Amino acid sequence: MDKQIIDEAIEYVKNVFEHDYSGHDFFHTLRVYKMATTIAEQEGADIMIVQLAALLHDVDDSKLSPQTHANKDKAVDFLNRHDVSQEIIKMICDIIDVVSFAGIDSTVPNSIEGKCVQDADRLDAIGAIGIARAFAYGGNHNRAIYDPDIPFKEEMTKKEYQNNTSTTINHFYEKLFLLSKLMNTATAKAIAKERDAYMRIYISEFMAEWEGIR
Ligand code: ADP
Ligand code: NI
Repeated sequence: MDKQIIDEAIEYVKNVFEHDYSGHDFFHTLRVYKMATTIAEQEGADIMIVQLAALLHDVDDSKLSPQTHANKDKAVDFLNRHDVSQEIIKMICDIIDVVSFAGIDSTVPNSIEGKCVQDADRLDAIGAIGIARAFAYGGNHNRAIYDPDIPFKEEMTKKEYQNNTSTTINHFYEKLFLLSKLMNTATAKAIAKERDAYMRIYISEFMAEWEGIR
């Protein structure tokens, strides 16, 4: 495999996500690809597998492409068209299967490559970008910004998490503040720590403004 397949994968995901504004857009995939590469270099993982899994991790997402989700048809077709071996296709599919956050049902990938991609995807849900994505998602799904009468639920199963319709501020307590403790690699743990601190400052400022304190 050479660099050309990566360039073609970038072009491919650009087309797939052309009209998505739900938080899973092309630039999310591109950031995950760049961050996963940075982590993989630090952790000594196989760069090509990490890059392909990062680029293809959302093309068969259950929300965006429910009909191809189960068999990951889009990712598998792309890899087959580029003559990637069945062994590597299987490795990449195994990574994509476990990348997504699923509440207390989340899985730790068994390969170092999977750990890099999962960490990169999770890092993109926190920090300054994570805040922007959460409110974009909330608006896209008609969620309230915040409602103090709706309590948050911290330990949700995959099903509860996916069916959950509470406010965007609650999402910080239900997912975003949990992520820094779930990072697999030392590289991601260090980055997550800073992004987590930044989000906590943001939420405390939000609450102070909400209460008319400052
Ligand atoms: P993943 O990338 O793990 O599959 P999701 O599909 O659950 O993540 O979410 C995509 C983006 O939308 C993430 O940034 C996530 O934090 C945000 N998001 C998901 N659910 C909510 C929600 N209920 N409220 C606000 N933001 C959300
Ligand atoms: Ni993602």
